[in-house]
Amino acid sequence: MPANICKQLNNVKGLDKTSYVTSLLSQMTLKEKIGQISQFHNDDIKLDSSIKMGDVGSVLNEVNRDTINKLQRLATHESRLGIPLLMGRDVIHGFNTIFPIPLGQAATWSTELVETCANIAAIESSNNGINWTFAPMIDISRDPRWGRIAESLGEDPYLCSTLGVAMVKGFQGEELSDNTSIAACAKHFAGYGASESGRDYNTTNIPENELRNVYLPPFKALADAGVSTFMASFSDLNGVPVTGNSWLLNDILREEWQFNGAVVSDWESIPQLVTHGFCEDQKSAAFEACNAGIDMEMTSDVYAKNLPHLIQDKKVNSEQIDTMVRRILTLKYDLGLFKCAFTDPTLSVEHLNSLHLSAAKEAATKSCVLLKNNNQTLPLSTTKISTMAVIGPLADDGYEQLGTWVFDAKVNRSITCLKAIKDYVTDSVDVKYVKGLETSRSNNQDSFNDARKIALSADVAVMILGEEAILSGEAHCRSNIDLPGCQEQLIDAIYKTGTPIILVIMAGRPITLEKILPKVDAVLFAWHPGSMAGPAITELLFGEVCPSGKLPVTFPRNVGQIPLYYSHKNTGKPASDATFVDINDIEVRAPQTSLGMTCTHLDTHFSPLFPFGFGLSYTRFEYKNINVNMHSISVGESVEISATVCNIGQVDAEEIVQLYIRDLVGSVTRPVKELKGFQRIFLPAGQSETVIFNVHTDELAFYNRQMKLKTEPGLFNVWIGGSSDAELTAGFEVLLKPAKI
Ligand code: NOJ
Repeated sequence: MPANICKQLNNVKGLDKTSYVTSLLSQMTLKEKIGQISQFHNDDIKLDSSIKMGDVGSVLNEVNRDTINKLQRLATHESRLGIPLLMGRDVIHGFNTIFPIPLGQAATWSTELVETCANIAAIESSNNGINWTFAPMIDISRDPRWGRIAESLGEDPYLCSTLGVAMVKGFQGEELSDNTSIAACAKHFAGYGASESGRDYNTTNIPENELRNVYLPPFKALADAGVSTFMASFSDLNGVPVTGNSWLLNDILREEWQFNGAVVSDWESIPQLVTHGFCEDQKSAAFEACNAGIDMEMTSDVYAKNLPHLIQDKKVNSEQIDTMVRRILTLKYDLGLFKCAFTDPTLSVEHLNSLHLSAAKEAATKSCVLLKNNNQTLPLSTTKISTMAVIGPLADDGYEQLGTWVFDAKVNRSITCLKAIKDYVTDSVDVKYVKGLETSRSNNQDSFNDARKIALSADVAVMILGEEAILSGEAHCRSNIDLPGCQEQLIDAIYKTGTPIILVIMAGRPITLEKILPKVDAVLFAWHPGSMAGPAITELLFGEVCPSGKLPVTFPRNVGQIPLYYSHKNTGKPASDATFVDINDIEVRAPQTSLGMTCTHLDTHFSPLFPFGFGLSYTRFEYKNINVNMHSISVGESVEISATVCNIGQVDAEEIVQLYIRDLVGSVTRPVKELKGFQRIFLPAGQSETVIFNVHTDELAFYNRQMKLKTEPGLFNVWIGGSSDAELTAGFEVLLKPAKI
């Protein structure tokens, strides 16, 4: 693309950012201003002419570079003021190269990897002309029925904040104006993950204290880290839909947090204010959204149709509109679009290149969580087995392994497990494959016999089951999170052959596995691993790499336990093994108060099936010598907490060392454990390392009853270990700073 077609507005050349934007604003008509805060869908038949008229600030979902260049040319050369376009796309876990779904990436607990994946996604998508992604989704997700848990970074505010910031760094790069950077978007502000019954778009009711202590911290962390934009959630928060929620968007985001970037609505969420029953018509929806601080409307045209009238009626003033437009123009300036909005095809980078694919493989490998491994069934060895049965609808499906939000994936570049296993074992192992079920949802058992047959004659059966991509993601929620279709029956059929079963699960959410767990020897939970699922899983199965992923979300035994998360409150009657009574042990006509009288269900144990932070390895790690360097510290100081981690097995491996704290007494009750740090370390077999965490008292602060963020003095417990069930514990005390004399 010759540089001379990158036209800079002559009359504002040489000005600094603020003056540039101010000068541009002063030249705009109201219609052009409203154009800047309107995002059009690329299918809109009036798109080209609207761009020329200055009615479009952003286009959603165009990904073809030539078309994008054409649209940018219309905007910069044929509209009156020549303002370039924001080109938005949901680049969620990769563009052409697909990485594990965000929940899988969270299972890596690796800020480096998460940043790298986002960076590669930015390189590939920006190379097509995209300059804005709607990611990361940092909604705390504690309900695995909710399909969008797949897009989340899990249940924990600390993990979600840390990895969310890493993702933003990856997308936005060193400078937003670099050719390979794209603007990120913190979404969905806020509380969307708490949708009642895990049904998408459903109502949320979150007390302010919980909102501030659990749901908002990741958003605050991203605002502080310089995320360019926010997206308002579709959901109704405590009776006020977020798109019209001035308290959340103005009082908290703008005033408390001083966020200056742009806020975009979600898809048609402004007209939905009418559907919510919050506004009587679209005019009032435009008023509420504008007043609440939605700077840009996604895909609908309620602003375009109604803001001029609202201004005429003096309900909205022109300064308000200027502020919204200023934020959009500032983002365009920061992206370097006024210097050049075009993507030069001669500078094109190769997508899905070997570097990108090897990062995808590493991320997939490190995201897999080993949930069970009886009698060291894994790793397999090509010298110990001669026949292997590969069974399951997800064993050889390059599309389903990618998961949700993969519009731009190159499915023909996916490597499946079947292919990778065959390539790995070459002729040394006879690999037989039967799909068993047409899809993960199928109920037709016609091929079960064939599956049984190959299992009977094999040394081991690798069953690759789970959920196909469409069963998770936006609007794809489930009320039952068992393996869908007849997959449990398929496991049962293979179990009856007596051949050891290694179960690999690809899914967009935790799956309830309690019933089938006793029938399988090993379980590797792979989420939806992306383009390189096959090589990653194969290397894990054969011990080329040691599993190291850890759960970013609690796995319940059954849906009745939901919501179930590690960081719960203690209650006045905490559950315990001593008081737990199983439904089958209750005597007939047992007196009302003879049972445990604690916070449990009768028909399931109160513990999860697998706790947050859990994941096995092919080696074993021992944790010892926990040490706290000061037994009391004052507010404003830090404490150093360390422990020795020893690799006491035979295999070199990575471990995710986790630090949890408990604030024993609070003016607002505190969770029984809270993650406050983690480190992914590599330890050769037989070696030990002292892992040190520093915790400043600011990191112990929480929102109190007056909604003030305060660290309260008192006793704290700490744990260091390999999961939220860590037992190695110590304590320290926080004292109020001695008053100055
Ligand atoms: C609706 C989704 O809620 C949001 O996450 C996404 O970014 C937009 N659609 C745009 O596709």
